[in-house]
Amino acid sequence: MAHTITLVPGDGIGPEVADATRLVVEATGIDVVWEVHHAGAEVAEKRGTTLPPEVIESIRRNKVALKGPIGTPIGKGFKSVNVTLRQTLDLYANVRPIKSLPALEPRFEGTDIVIVRENTEGLYAGLELMIMPGIAQSIKLITEPACTRICEYAFAYAERMGRHRVTVIHKANIMKLSDGLLLECFRRVAQRHPRIEPFEMIVDACAMQMVRDANKLDVIVTENLYGDILSDLGAGLVGGLGIVPGSNIGEQAAVFEAVHGTAPDIVGKGLANPTALIQSAVMMLHHMNEPRAADRVARAIVENFRSGGPRTPDLGGSASTMEFAGALARRVAVSPA
Ligand code: NAI
Repeated sequence: MAHTITLVPGDGIGPEVADATRLVVEATGIDVVWEVHHAGAEVAEKRGTTLPPEVIESIRRNKVALKGPIGTPIGKGFKSVNVTLRQTLDLYANVRPIKSLPALEPRFEGTDIVIVRENTEGLYAGLELMIMPGIAQSIKLITEPACTRICEYAFAYAERMGRHRVTVIHKANIMKLSDGLLLECFRRVAQRHPRIEPFEMIVDACAMQMVRDANKLDVIVTENLYGDILSDLGAGLVGGLGIVPGSNIGEQAAVFEAVHGTAPDIVGKGLANPTALIQSAVMMLHHMNEPRAADRVARAIVENFRSGGPRTPDLGGSASTMEFAGALARRVAVSPA
């Protein structure tokens, strides 16, 4: 049966890494139909909206999407398309595995952390106002249902993936009510999962722990902003933003995307590393119940780096985005099905 996947190439390097990812996914031989839709700043000029309704309709219909990065103006302009997409489709769990790949000289050998970030509220709820000139307020919205749901997701994920510990990252010493509520929900949910060890850590201590010895961490669950910052920190531990994949999971749909942004400094030069989006596609193939195709792509990535295969310039190589993707696609195509 053919899988129909919504593909949103995105802005900046998005279309480049999306083309590369399509090539590698198609090399598995699974039957895929890509329903391509555009969102972002360029679309807004033509359509008057950054997120046309057909994008949401397509994702709702297909239940699965692969998405490139979309730019958000800083300090002014339209609301983040990413945040709107996550809130509209209630993609509440942002799952970001931080895993070292062979031969990339990670900071620590064998890093294998999974960050489960609450995706729909916190400081990203978009509740901001100028109280008066010179005084601005951003409201951090934290609700019990959202905290319970994300903690449940993290513990269930840990059980399903054979993990041992879930650490909640918070700042409840200062934000006693909002982060305190997250902590309370975490403790309650932990009692329902006796096989998984619960652990608590303050966000600043977690940043230090990740840099000193990331291998002490297993699954992390946290609110929106801390999860966003810690995932870029994690990316820095394992080879940079060109590597780290992600997924946005809800009850009705799932959107797979890399952690990185539009990389305006390298657009159109063939310098973008598509590994992060290709690894997101591996997560997508698992989600679509295509474990063999997922394993073939994952193996091709590992074997490519282990055997000294091509690398993009961010990893010290000289291959272009499509040369790298072509080499991976050839490996996938000849790998045992
Ligand atoms: P960025 O992730 O786009 O770039 C940071 C640095 O990493 C740059 O030097 C860039 O060249 C490099 N980089 C990123 N991805 C790379 C790749 N695949 N291969 C090689 N090098 C790569 O972060 P920045 O500059 O803070 O954000 C640019 C725009 O992207 C902003 O408008 C931001 O809002 C947006 N953004 C979108 C995201 C999404 O759609 N999920 C996530 C993060 C940022």
